[in-house]
Amino acid sequence: MPIKFEEKRKIFHLYTSNFSYYMHVNKYNYLIHLYHGNYLSDISKERVSERYMERYAFVDNGKEVQDEDYYFSTFASKFECAPYGKHDKRNPFAVINDKSNIDITNFLYVEHKMYPGVDPHFTMPYPRFTAKECQTLEIILKDEYRDIYLHMYYTISEKYNILVRHSKVVNKTNEPIYVHKFSAMELDFDNDDMDIVAYHGSWGSERQKEVIPLNHSLTEISDNHGERGFYYNQNILLKSKDATLDMGEVYGFGLMYSGDFSYQFKVDEINQTRMIVSYNPENFMFTLNKDEELYSFAVLCVHSNEGINKVTQIFHDVARDKIIRETWAKKERPILINSWEAMYMNFDTDRLIKFIDKAKEAKIDLVVIDDGWFGHRDDDKSSLGDWFINTKKVDLQKIADYTHSSGLKFGLWFEPEMISPDSELYKVHPEYALYADNVKNPTLQRHQLVLDSINPEAREHVLNQIFKVVDALKPDYIKWDFNRYLSEAYSKYLTTEHKKETYHRFVLASYSMFNAFITRYPNILVESCAAGGGRFDFGMLYYTPQIWCSDETDIAIRAKINYSTNTFYPLSTQGTHVSMRKNGSIRDKACLAFFGTYGYEMDITKSSDEDIKTIQFMNDLFKKYHSVVTKGDYYAIYDPYTTNYVSWNVVSKNKKKCLVYFMIFNKEQTHARFIKLKGLDKNKYYFNSLTNDIYKGDFYMNVGLNISAEFGSYDSMLFVLEEVNSIPAKIYRKTKQVDGGKREKLLW
Ligand code: GLA
Repeated sequence: MPIKFEEKRKIFHLYTSNFSYYMHVNKYNYLIHLYHGNYLSDISKERVSERYMERYAFVDNGKEVQDEDYYFSTFASKFECAPYGKHDKRNPFAVINDKSNIDITNFLYVEHKMYPGVDPHFTMPYPRFTAKECQTLEIILKDEYRDIYLHMYYTISEKYNILVRHSKVVNKTNEPIYVHKFSAMELDFDNDDMDIVAYHGSWGSERQKEVIPLNHSLTEISDNHGERGFYYNQNILLKSKDATLDMGEVYGFGLMYSGDFSYQFKVDEINQTRMIVSYNPENFMFTLNKDEELYSFAVLCVHSNEGINKVTQIFHDVARDKIIRETWAKKERPILINSWEAMYMNFDTDRLIKFIDKAKEAKIDLVVIDDGWFGHRDDDKSSLGDWFINTKKVDLQKIADYTHSSGLKFGLWFEPEMISPDSELYKVHPEYALYADNVKNPTLQRHQLVLDSINPEAREHVLNQIFKVVDALKPDYIKWDFNRYLSEAYSKYLTTEHKKETYHRFVLASYSMFNAFITRYPNILVESCAAGGGRFDFGMLYYTPQIWCSDETDIAIRAKINYSTNTFYPLSTQGTHVSMRKNGSIRDKACLAFFGTYGYEMDITKSSDEDIKTIQFMNDLFKKYHSVVTKGDYYAIYDPYTTNYVSWNVVSKNKKKCLVYFMIFNKEQTHARFIKLKGLDKNKYYFNSLTNDIYKGDFYMNVGLNISAEFGSYDSMLFVLEEVNSIPAKIYRKTKQVDGGKREKLLW
């Protein structure tokens, strides 16, 4: 069992073979954090928690009581849920007010439970661990001053080398309480010699890596847009300053939540660091009446002493095995072509038929009709909410049937959580739009408002319309978009006392819409999207097995977006397409898109014969090796944020196959350059399609592949390594004779 409680010293030890998490209940019933790092077989609580500073003292019955030992300080000890309004002046775990307007909070240990499996009452996204795969420690604490209970959950899976945390607050007083801040977890560190690696972004440049040193001011990595995490992604790393891709101590945190969040870091007066992960306290206040409770979201906590790549692999394995729905977890994805960049909203039945024919010729599997098929929508100014086919514009039934009868899959775009002021729906139900009652001129973004999906009637109305279309057209794939963020957002459906709950309740409403859809259509592949990759998080992945990564498909920018996204999210979850954007050839773009779900964003009816041949060739290649992408172990090789290159390799779990990607940003003359591969079996022999040679795994990993040639900007390489059982007598060269046998050409 990966959780132990030592009764005598009141020490909890949570562990896997790689890491340990220690905490203890002190004599005042504070839950003290002791350690979180490499596996440790035992710990001395005194020496670890000792702080050489003023002794803990307080007044009891009019007399000063002074603690005789140094072990505890309410000012500087490391807590699991620090008190608020008392001596600890660091960033608080929870801020809870009541009618008295006094919000001092001090949660003290009451009892704990341990059980196999996960918290059975938690309903938000969570890894789908079985009872055999994990154990949960639930610690119950009570506020010293009021009947408010805090439950802290620690679910640990030895198999997946991961700790998952969440918490719950319960009001047992007879009056309402007002929760202004509530956290999923707190983590206190002994020192400040670490960097935060966070991923900020905007439309077309999602998840840009940013390294932020810990410091004494409050550093906040957060988002307040309401379900569009462009500004900061929900996941971060916290790494020791000398940690690299393959060495050193790295903590990874991943939120299973698609709404507003906040990571707060603060280095205190004696250079310790506190990390708090909470709902973003902005746009947040929950009223809990007697016996009501509020859950936090879940946080995936990963630790590695082998650098960032190890953290990445743990996230990928957990996401593929336990977050994505089983139907799609490791299933290979169809190669798709999307109508958006090919024709935007300018299509009709004939144009689409030609598009489908060409897609078939190009060996594409799935044709997706994007925005513009419903209501009276010819531009982005109308019709969201009117989910019925614009039959004057397009015979979509014919298109769906034609696609299917051509042996291809059919896909359709929706944006269910939005409403256009110019729509039938808004005319009849203006109250379905999400904005505060006193706002007469709600802000439009992309000419649209957000649907008040907290209102079950609005939610059901939209879903029922969508169900009708889906039942008729029988799509195999849905792209579920979300093109603006929340503003003036106070649900008309909520009563005054609950209005400030809108942002979080909106996320729950979205989850319930996704859930309703996938429960009704478990076999439809749903790809979520938010103005490109604005809603890319583990919460979404729980419902939709793939997410459109970015509207930017120019490899000059996209390579960096993909590199950051790869750090946390499996390649099989990332919508990646080849387009006609400026930099790089179709082949260069395909090399990058290959490491994702793969597809096209272009009008192939206008492509040259040569381009169609390249597309056919890449599609065959993709089908042959896609399983390595969906199931293999990922290793970053060159970081595009610190070098002129971007490179990674993916190795199948049985180490028989490996795919390598390399791209250069700015032209470079010939100079010595080697790509050292990672994760191969050092004793296996592999044929590589770059030089058509066979070398041993240790050669590829220690000497590397020699690419000391001249490169032009955005030149890209994709090559394959396959195990061969021994070195054949004559080195095997995979080439073909061309020009009537005069020339030998490498196959690829
Ligand atoms: C968003 C998506 C695009 C496309 C458009 C359609 O911007 O990211 O891929 O679907 O919406 O309006």
